[in-house]
Amino acid sequence: MKPKKKSDQERRIILGVETSCDDTSICLLEFNGTPKILSLNSYNQDFLLSKWGGVVPELAARSHVKAIPPLLEVCFREAQIGPDDVTEVAVTTHPGLMGSLLTGINLAKTFAMIKELPIVPVNHLFAHLEAIHLTEKVSYPYLGLLVSGGHTAFWWVKGPNEMEVLGTTLDDAAGEAFDKGGKLLGVGYPAGKIIDELAKDGNNKKYDFPISYLRDRPGKMSYSGLKTALRVKLAKMSKEEIQENLHDLCASYQEAIVQTLRVKAEEIIEKILQLKVRDFETPIVIGGGVACNSRLKTIMQERFKNVHVVNPLYCTDNAGMVANWASRVPELAVSFPECLGLDAQSRFVEKK
Ligand code: KG4
Ligand code: ZN
Repeated sequence: MKPKKKSDQERRIILGVETSCDDTSICLLEFNGTPKILSLNSYNQDFLLSKWGGVVPELAARSHVKAIPPLLEVCFREAQIGPDDVTEVAVTTHPGLMGSLLTGINLAKTFAMIKELPIVPVNHLFAHLEAIHLTEKVSYPYLGLLVSGGHTAFWWVKGPNEMEVLGTTLDDAAGEAFDKGGKLLGVGYPAGKIIDELAKDGNNKKYDFPISYLRDRPGKMSYSGLKTALRVKLAKMSKEEIQENLHDLCASYQEAIVQTLRVKAEEIIEKILQLKVRDFETPIVIGGGVACNSRLKTIMQERFKNVHVVNPLYCTDNAGMVANWASRVPELAVSFPECLGLDAQSRFVEKK
């Protein structure tokens, strides 16, 4: 690796790359003690995926290939810097869809090879939660709630790379519950944002959807029964009835998803951390796509004292969170040329 000038070491410019699922995102972030996003551009495949009602791995991977070059160009233009200014590359290496991850990793390696730069392999899940530092100062430890399309988990966070799982879903993730429910309701994909909007004019008490408390399994959640309950309910309604009551259906369905998270947060504080909810002043950080949900934010902020929600700009998959995480873990940078050996990992395996 080329020795860097002192001035370069102080001012890090990180090229962030995120392609773990269906969003292609590139970012240029300057780190000088605090992170500053110089440019962030993303391309989502929602229009493509709405046709299929979900992510099709092969289509997602091919779409990244097409989206990357223009995104790179726009990012450098907006940031008003050139490729020579970049001091390191950050790329999501896990977890995610293999084909999608590899597309981003190949871009990272190509860039690193041309400029002889190190690469920081980024943990997508940790990056979601740590995105809080892009806009707020939150100290460790904190209780992290990651709610996305692929994951729903509570973590005890002691540092950017020190997270211990306290609870998870046993089946569907919260975002998946939104998306699968939205498919049954025929509102479009991805459905979380649409249900959130429709629910604003709805009565969340009109329909009774089951909240799977799983009282004997602290921290454990299950969303698969909820989706089945919606299917059973809709089967008994005519198309007209569904349309007339769409707002109430969305509000009631969303309420069950959100209340499950509130109940599980209480349970984790009381049963796992053995503390009282009313005395719990440790920060609670909520990140991931579902953190954009307005009802979730309201419920959690009403119930708990010190709740921080990632800015909606950085909630759904984006390269800003990737570059930001890399800025916090410089010790994980793999120098050139060893970084060319980095690989993707589809699943996240917790360190023991
Ligand atoms: O974090 P993300 O971009 O992808 C994964 O890493 O999985 O999250 C995407 C998920 C989708 O399931 C989408 O429906 C959900 O976030 N989502 C929302 C909202 N905006 C996005 N869910 C509920 N309310 C929203 N406002
Ligand atoms: Zn994500």
